[in-house]
Amino acid sequence: MSTTFTLDTSTSRAHPLPEPVRRLTVPAIQGRKKDGATAEPIVMLTAYTARMAQLLDPHCDMLLVGDSLGQVIYGLDTTVRVTLDMMVAHGAAVVRGSYRSVVVVDLPFGTYEASAEQAFATASHVLRETGAAAVKMEGGEVLAPTVEFLVKRGIPVVGHVGLTPQAVNALGGYGARGRSEAEALKIAADARAIADAGAFSLVIEGVMEPLARAITTEIACPTIGIGASPACDGQVLVVDDMLGMFERVPRFVRRFDDVAARVTAAAAGYAAAVRDRSFPGPAELYQPKAKG
Ligand code: KIV
Repeated sequence: MSTTFTLDTSTSRAHPLPEPVRRLTVPAIQGRKKDGATAEPIVMLTAYTARMAQLLDPHCDMLLVGDSLGQVIYGLDTTVRVTLDMMVAHGAAVVRGSYRSVVVVDLPFGTYEASAEQAFATASHVLRETGAAAVKMEGGEVLAPTVEFLVKRGIPVVGHVGLTPQAVNALGGYGARGRSEAEALKIAADARAIADAGAFSLVIEGVMEPLARAITTEIACPTIGIGASPACDGQVLVVDDMLGMFERVPRFVRRFDDVAARVTAAAAGYAAAVRDRSFPGPAELYQPKAKG
């Protein structure tokens, strides 16, 4: 099987694809939820590279260039150390590799919380440099004025409430949120504030199932659950978790494959073939053409 591929990025008007693929739009995603119900759940996965985006794109409505790339790609212990340059480089790659999905890029920790102006500068930079359609920001009531500021200036925003990994140092870990009544009420208020501020969808992460269900019923924009509820208007997973790339499997992850095992087997097969000199074989070599 060939491992080479061509990135066909010719989606501009000047170079239309033979069968033009129309990218979904932010209003189309928002419009999936009508009168409080979403007939067709929104499918979202994270993506960090062009090739993975190509593979996921036909199956997804939204691709999230999550700051989880800090752990997944860069081996960092938290998302706190993820930089804007990382997000821009991977965001641009995912846009190049996708044709259909709405691409959303996470704003990394420390690049948007100080003020609405700081958030606008960061978000506009991300959209300009990547070609993505929207940004995602973690936070609740305190962030709502910032969300409103961006939305009113033409930047579509996905909110993120509940377990917000960028706040790991304040939260003290990644445990599920909303167990106490006070915490559940706070998360519901956060969700309401971000939705009222104009976010076109809202990620709800790591909360008690009834809370995610109640928020989904209450707010007008679609909710995207991760460790939340099947009642959410859509679901998102970190693609490497879903593929079975890591040994640790959080409760909310379903592994749809065991790719780590397959990579291990392939690497072992390659190593054995190199060591016993069966690779490269005759079909994998260039020979000079026989002379006249
Ligand atoms: O960074 C990320 O991948 C995310 C998802 C887990 C929602 O924020």
